[in-house]
Amino acid sequence: VSEPDQAVTAQASLADAVEALDEGFALFDDTARLRLCNARFREIYAGLAAMLVPGASWELLLREAVSRGLLDAAAARRLRTTEARLDPAAGVEPLEIAAPGGRVVVASLSATRAGGFVLTLRDVTARRRLEAREREADLLLRKVLEACPANVLMSRVADGAVIYRSPPATELLGPVGRHAELFAEPTAHADFIAALLPEGRVEAMPAVLLRPDGTAFPATISARMIADRGEAVVVSTVTDLSREAAMQAELAEQRATIFQTEKMSALGELLAGVAHELNNPLSVVVGQALMLREDVDDPAIVRRLDKIGAAAERCARIVKSFLAIARQQPASLAPAELDVIVATGVDAMRNGPTGLTATVEVALAGDLPRIAVDADQIAQVVVNLVGNADQAIASSGRGGLIRVSTRHDAPAAIVELRVTDDGPGIPEPALGRVFDPLFSTREAGKGAGIGLALCHRIVTAHRGTIRTEPSPGGGATFVVRLPVAAVAAALPGPRRRASGLASEVAR
Ligand SMILES: Nc1ncnc2c1ncn2[C@@H]1O[C@H](COP(=O)(O)OP(=O)(O)OP(=O)(O)O)[C@@H](O)[C@H]1O
Ligand SMILES: [Mg+2]
Repeated sequence: VSEPDQAVTAQASLADAVEALDEGFALFDDTARLRLCNARFREIYAGLAAMLVPGASWELLLREAVSRGLLDAAAARRLRTTEARLDPAAGVEPLEIAAPGGRVVVASLSATRAGGFVLTLRDVTARRRLEAREREADLLLRKVLEACPANVLMSRVADGAVIYRSPPATELLGPVGRHAELFAEPTAHADFIAALLPEGRVEAMPAVLLRPDGTAFPATISARMIADRGEAVVVSTVTDLSREAAMQAELAEQRATIFQTEKMSALGELLAGVAHELNNPLSVVVGQALMLREDVDDPAIVRRLDKIGAAAERCARIVKSFLAIARQQPASLAPAELDVIVATGVDAMRNGPTGLTATVEVALAGDLPRIAVDADQIAQVVVNLVGNADQAIASSGRGGLIRVSTRHDAPAAIVELRVTDDGPGIPEPALGRVFDPLFSTREAGKGAGIGLALCHRIVTAHRGTIRTEPSPGGGATFVVRLPVAAVAAALPGPRRRASGLASEVAR
């Protein structure tokens, strides 16, 4: 085969290869005239087919394409300037242009060594359509998520950055930027990721999360791990349990109250029985000790008899108070003003035989609705609470101020009495027992452990509640809440005002 023949064969196979290309291909010479183009090129610019012959000028082709509406003027300008700046040493950015028939092609220009250039056209219509459809689907999904009332949070596993937050999630959790910011405890996020990684899912994992204002709330968090564009992404949703928790706490408190009341009534009955049985033998002991004392002269024996008598009398007193607790029922309910009862009770304490060690500050509401109560019994409650506070302060040497206040909780239809002291407070182990009969921490012979049991009995008999609270800065607080009963309106007559007592300080 001769050399020219070889060249012809090479050229033929080159033309074959160019024809076989999936891209449109056009070669221009150094005078910017068309040398050749393949069938794909002619197919894309079918409207120019008659002009796509060797020798056609680049400039003319551009102009014709524009005037026949096959190419928009802006695209033609971009092609023209790109071609003018072609540099064989440097590549150029391909241009995306609209081709006839709603097609989209990527046009690349590159310089040839002979001083000409090549224009290739890659049809990207299908890909662009797919991308547009994906974008639409994405948009739809986003719209659905935005409208969905569930809270959804998406975050990257790699750096924990939150990449999507549905509006309810923003409302519940605030504009968190990182998934870890959700959690109240610093280690909780690591625990969550550790639970998620093995199976790519977490079901209702309990966690303490943060609200936008920084307060913590109990919740559960469920999550799935998905792959998004090659990245691991966590899709999570949170269930706020604070309402359930509040309900649980309320139930627990109700249970505790019922338990306490039942315990008290059982104990009360038992005490009443025992006290009743002890009453007679005790009076025998007291009486016999007294009589025997008349008969003997030996001072040593008299002293011992005095001890027996004193002990027996103390027993008799305790028995009496047991009976008092057991019998405690609101004896006579009559409309009364809590402020007046409190003022009277505190007054009695101040002017009583033992007086008070501490300063008592009285802050009365002044405008409380009247309640149907046994005023003497409620006064006893006041006396016991103030007395306990004074004793706690006196015996510990801590504090020196007792605050007694009243308040109207109108929405709950309740009047409230608070006795707060700055004394030693009630230590944890004693907290649950202070209302138990016979529970006392006072030194032997001083406290019988009756006072609060009596208070409890009186208050519950009035359908009220009594509970302890720690005082801020130590000390104990007792809160008595009494319902404003309808009977209060029964009795006519002017309301006795507790004015002048509204806030006084005395020692
Ligand atoms: N304000 C208070 N501060 C600290 N502890 C208190 C206070 N009030 C009551 N307590 C504790 O509760 C216990 C029981 O009180 P309660 O009034 O029932 O009995 P008491 O005062 O010991 O005896 P009693 O009242 O029969 O004379 C007390 O011994 C004390 O430990
Ligand atoms: Mg007491």
